[in-house]
This record gives sequence, structure tokens and C-alpha cells, in this order.
Amino acid sequence: MDYFNYQNNELFAEAVAVQDIVYQFGSPCYIYSRATLERHWRAFDGAFGAIPHLVCYAVKANSNLGVLNVLARLGSGFDIVSLGEMERVLAAGGDAKKIVFSGVGKREDEILAALKAGIRCFNIEVSGELDRINNLAGQLGVVAPVSFRVNPDVDAKTHPYISTGLKENKFGIDIDTAIAEYRRAAALPYIKVVGIDCHIGSQLTETRPFLDALDKLLELVATLREEGIHLHHLDLGGGLGICYKDEQPPQPAQYIQAVLERLGQHSYEILLEPGRAIVGNAGILVTQVEYLKPTANKNFAIVDAAMNDLLRPSLYGAWQEIIPVSPHDDAPLVHWDIVGPVCETGDFLGKERLLKLAVGDLLAVRSAGAYGFSMSSNYNSRPRVAEVMVDGTQCHLVRARETLAQLWAGESLLP
Ligand code: LLP
Repeated sequence: MDYFNYQNNELFAEAVAVQDIVYQFGSPCYIYSRATLERHWRAFDGAFGAIPHLVCYAVKANSNLGVLNVLARLGSGFDIVSLGEMERVLAAGGDAKKIVFSGVGKREDEILAALKAGIRCFNIEVSGELDRINNLAGQLGVVAPVSFRVNPDVDAKTHPYISTGLKENKFGIDIDTAIAEYRRAAALPYIKVVGIDCHIGSQLTETRPFLDALDKLLELVATLREEGIHLHHLDLGGGLGICYKDEQPPQPAQYIQAVLERLGQHSYEILLEPGRAIVGNAGILVTQVEYLKPTANKNFAIVDAAMNDLLRPSLYGAWQEIIPVSPHDDAPLVHWDIVGPVCETGDFLGKERLLKLAVGDLLAVRSAGAYGFSMSSNYNSRPRVAEVMVDGTQCHLVRARETLAQLWAGESLLP
């Protein structure tokens, strides 16, 4: 459920008309709903009841400081994959002790900075990373808390580009060799083994693959226990899907309930790393129709947002709902391809959408809060768009539209 609804035939974000937001901040723009964000985070957090847990929001889904700040105020943890993400979390008021650091290629400077900040855990994804962390922690005279991200070889049944838990994927440590890594880690002086981690993919719409992965994790955990290696936490990653069209993913509470049932009596703290399920439906991308171009074969509505602003349709063939901000009857109901001005045939936001469109109309692309702005680029020298957070009757500009001068700030002519 989200807080983007029609009131008197006008799309609202919470208690503010989307049209008014665009008058104030221009088009295109991303609009987020604070109430939706909070509701989704609490759906995860509340489902655990009294069981020790930490919801570590996956920053990559949407790393805007305003978004991170809303979650930090709720007491959220954070899953990061770069130094940039860590600095964003800290700048947004996040607690370093609630940060887990995932990622397949952590550089030395990133590890050092995370050690100095005192993060909660490094999720190790490659053998050499263990030695690198041990050496750097030794240099600083600290002990690094680590877990291994194991690859359980489970089919997440999602788009191949966002499936990460199969042996052929680059992520994690093969579950069959992880035991040897744990033994090595347990013997290193500047390493403290605290957990185990897995993340099998994104936009999962069934509970089954999560439980299959959990079973494999638990087998390994039992073996480790027999060897005297005791873990404090199990991190089950992110990946819970959302409804873009007609998917029916489990609700966070259903998913967590299934996990807890499978775990039975246990003494672990449970960590999760949800991104999309928290922020996906908490955001829309608003865009204006610039031109209508009916042709013999297709009707194109050329809008002012493009693949550089929202890449998911172009990159994954993802379907996101596109709705009018102010529905009207001044035009016939026709199938439109909603395309941007970028010079690529793959530049579209949606195809064959049945809409009544006139030039100047505003459209909202729904479910754009996750992997929307965070995957945007300046391709075609297009400044990145504004981001606005609605909070009840209030609107806050949480990222100003980029200026043209910002596009080449840092570039230079030859001497
Ligand atoms: N943890 C790790 C280690 C991850 O790699 C990811 C996502 C997450 C957590 C959060 O997963 P979520 O709960 O958001 O599914 N750009 C793609 C999605 C890429 C996901 C990458 N990893 C998309 O737009 O569909």
C-alpha cells in the first residue's frame, strides 16, 4: 500500500497535489512519500516482534539523504556496497554500528574507512578480502567483525540480471568451500567471525527460494557449530519483490513469519537487507508530454523524462505503471509508446499504454522509488532531475535539479 492516490480526479502524494509539486519544482521530478517509506520499513521491523533483529535498508535502491534520514530516524540499519554509500548514511544521521558492508570488490581505502567508522560487519565475498581486512585491521590495531556471504546455488526465479545466488554468478563464496574460509578466519588475529550472509537476487515473488537458501545456510551453520565456530547473526539479504503490475509477492510479515517458522528455536539475531520492498512503491517519477507523434505503425508520446532518468524499462524490459496526473476526456483513448528524447531506440518508459493524452499532460511512472534515481545518469548531457519528499501537507526538496554548469564542473580544456 502506498500514499499516491487520486482525490477529485487529481493524483496526490499524501496530502499534496502532484501537479502543485511540479509547478513548484518543475518536470521531470521524483516524488517520494515519507508515510509510505515509514510504513514499509515498519512492516519489516514490526514483523519480528521481540526476536532480536536488524533491518538494514539496502542503500543502493535509493541513496537520497532525505530517504536515508527518514529511515535513520526510525532506527534503521543500512546495507552498503561502497564508501560513497557509507558516507551518505553517516551524513544522513545513520549509525555506523548498524552498517553492514556488502560488495564483491571492496577497495583498501573503503575497508580502512569502514574500520575507522566502526561498522557492524563486513560481508566477505571473496577469499582475498578476508586477508585484506585482517591486514588493514592489524595496521589500525582493531578487530574486524566479519561474516561470509555464501552463494547457496539457489534459483531465485527472477530476471537473470538481478539473480545472484547461482554458482555461475560472481557473488559470494561457494557454499561448499565456505567452511574452509570460516576455519581460516577463526584463526586470524584481527578478525572476529560474527555471522553468515546470503542474498540470492532481487524482485523475488515467492518465499520458496528464500527458504531453500536458508536451509543451506543452516546446514553450514550446524557444521560450523560442531567445529566450535559460533555465529551471532544470520543475514538473509534483501530481494523481496513488490507489485509493479500483477505480481503477488508475499508481504514482509508473511515472508518473515515463514523464515521464523523454518528457524524454529534459535538464538541468532536476524538481519535483513531489503531495498526495493521499502522504497519501490514509495516513489513516482513525474514527466510531462512534450509532443504527440502518431505514425502509421505506432503512436509515440514524447515526454521530458528518459532512460537516463529511469533505466529499468530499457535495461530489464521492466514494466512500470504509467498513469495520468490529471485525468481528462479531451483526447481519444489510444495506445501510446511513452518515449524519452534520448537518441536510443531503447529509450522508453512504457510501451502500448492505453491513455488519453494531450501535449502538456503530466504522467506519473509508479513504483519508481527503487533503482530509479539511484541508477540515473547524465547521458545525452541531461541534468539529473529534482527529488522531492512529501510529508503530509509538506514538500521538501531533497535534491535540487542539476544545473547545466554542474554537468561539466570538474572537466577542463587542454592547456
Ligand atoms: N543486499 C545485497 C547484497 C544486494 O546486492 C541487494 C540488491 C540488496 C540487498 C537489496 O535487494 P532488494 O531488496 O532491493 O531486492 N537494479 C535492479 C536491482 C538490483 C539489485 C541489486 N542488489 C532493478 O532495478 O531491478
